[in-house]
Amino acid sequence: MNAPSPVPVDQSNTPTWVRHRGLRKWVSEVARLTKPERVLWCDGSQAEYDRLCAELVEAGTFIRLSDRLRPNSYLARSHPSDVARMEDRTFICSEKQEDAGPTNNWIEPAEMRRTLNRLFEGCMRGRTMYVMPYSMGPIGSHIAQIGVEISDSAYVAVNMRVMTRMGSAVAEWLGEEGDFVPGVHSVGAPLAPGQKDVVWPCNQEEKWIVHFPETREIWSYGSGYGGNALLGKKCLALRIASVMGRDEGWLAEHMLIVGVESPSGEKSYVCGAFPSACGKTNFAMLIPPAAFKGWKVTTLGEDIAWIKPGRDGRFYAINPEAGLFGVAPGTSETTNLNAMRTLRANVIFTNVALTPEGDVWWEGLTETPPARLVDWQGKDWEPGCGRLAAHANARFTVPTSQCPSMDPKWEDPGGVPISAFLFGGRRSSAVPLVVEAPSWEEGVYMAATLGSETTAAITGKVGVVRRDPMAMLAFCGYNMGDYFAHWLKMGSAVHHPPRIFRVNWFKRDAGGKFLWPGFGENMRVLAWIVERCHGRAGGAETPLGIMPAYENLSWSGLEKFGAARFAELTRVETAAWKEELASHDELFGRLGARLPAALEARRSRMHERLAA
Ligand code: OXD
Ligand code: MN
Repeated sequence: MNAPSPVPVDQSNTPTWVRHRGLRKWVSEVARLTKPERVLWCDGSQAEYDRLCAELVEAGTFIRLSDRLRPNSYLARSHPSDVARMEDRTFICSEKQEDAGPTNNWIEPAEMRRTLNRLFEGCMRGRTMYVMPYSMGPIGSHIAQIGVEISDSAYVAVNMRVMTRMGSAVAEWLGEEGDFVPGVHSVGAPLAPGQKDVVWPCNQEEKWIVHFPETREIWSYGSGYGGNALLGKKCLALRIASVMGRDEGWLAEHMLIVGVESPSGEKSYVCGAFPSACGKTNFAMLIPPAAFKGWKVTTLGEDIAWIKPGRDGRFYAINPEAGLFGVAPGTSETTNLNAMRTLRANVIFTNVALTPEGDVWWEGLTETPPARLVDWQGKDWEPGCGRLAAHANARFTVPTSQCPSMDPKWEDPGGVPISAFLFGGRRSSAVPLVVEAPSWEEGVYMAATLGSETTAAITGKVGVVRRDPMAMLAFCGYNMGDYFAHWLKMGSAVHHPPRIFRVNWFKRDAGGKFLWPGFGENMRVLAWIVERCHGRAGGAETPLGIMPAYENLSWSGLEKFGAARFAELTRVETAAWKEELASHDELFGRLGARLPAALEARRSRMHERLAA
């Protein structure tokens, strides 16, 4: 089938399925500003996806992988300066600086608009402007939101088709006057007439990821990568949606969603917030140990959850995304079999290594690396050469529907009822394996003071504790103090608020070895959590909250773990906690008058309890 080719902007090529006058007007305004050579309204069809991928292969941006080993899959290599989200280039331009708060970068909106006008003026010259209507959440769900991304990157267009429900069906649902979140993205690399393009266009001088929370707008310039460019994900589904949630009484969270089925067939759903590099995708696709007969874990989401109060007094959550944009290094048949099965076909890999057979490889995929590879920068690579074969933040983009552990309800427009919220960081000391908060308020305190040790992949520094409240430090689109107040308030928006737990899979012994085996064994903790939610499992009060005793967890198949090791994992280390509280004080101090009094009071009580 011959697809319509993009036509010059001065011809009216708006498809009939776009009935929204405001949308048409906005698109022509952006085209007038950015001056692309052509405009393509993406219909989201498979034919369009295949055609754009073929064009990306032609341009050298994509390498088509072996059809035998990795059918219908591609490898992209980004510019070495464009490999990750850029928190220092991310801005929340609320009208007032205090509404962005001390944890966000802020620039006065009028000044920011002047900068954006300068940057976007003519920035798409020589390029195609892709217009992508997309839905975050199942089309038509009362929890879903519609966005429209304009981008001058075909890489973005094909990734958005995987990551969201994108195309004509969304524009039809939007109708003549539905609300949508506009987002404009440019790689910031206009082409002069006759200029040959590079394989990964981006702007090496300037990168900006800008949000206007009051007008619900997103502008992104200079980067073609991940959360900087796929605007539905971190920009809309977290930063803008968190503001919508504040204003409308719901929660947009950096959380996975899993279903847990017990041997009796009882089903519970749990959300979990984990900062980057804490094994969130592995936990979302957990396979229980063989000895855990009758227990089943299903996946609903692995990065973002939108959670609204339901009529029955419980919170209901949906996964607003339709694809996984996961970190490849460390993913293997042992660490995450479900992810590996998901990746068998129809994948866009970015910055992984290429094998001579036309397949992919990354650190951790196999114990022994292949004898020869081409690394993520296109250079020959062999074991021991001293360089990583795949970038530490190398990614895969793949349809969520391909994951074998998906829950039958993962696309239910009404969402699933949530029994528990988990908050977990990477902590080598002090923070015990699992603690239940005795109340909603104490749980919000635990979540607000969540911290995680940085890994080389995030900051280049290892082992520094970064406070990452609710794992939302980089994603909350407003003042963190107000966000805590919103969480406190949401506890009474439902009759049955989920129980709140803090978990830590990463505690180490005196010799620096991990105490807990993690991965599938996390099922033991998850089962305890679910049983607690149903009022069936035992636990004891401690100054930190409610913790299981050794006999409260099931050890079948892991009998050798032993009570002594478990005691080490759950020890209340009073001296370390005093230091921990001092660092909570540091975060709270930055929030000043916007810190809710209830959290201030919790902190004082913790100090007292530990002193006692
Ligand atoms: C992500 C992140 O990319 O949290 O999902 O950093
Ligand atoms: Mn994330």
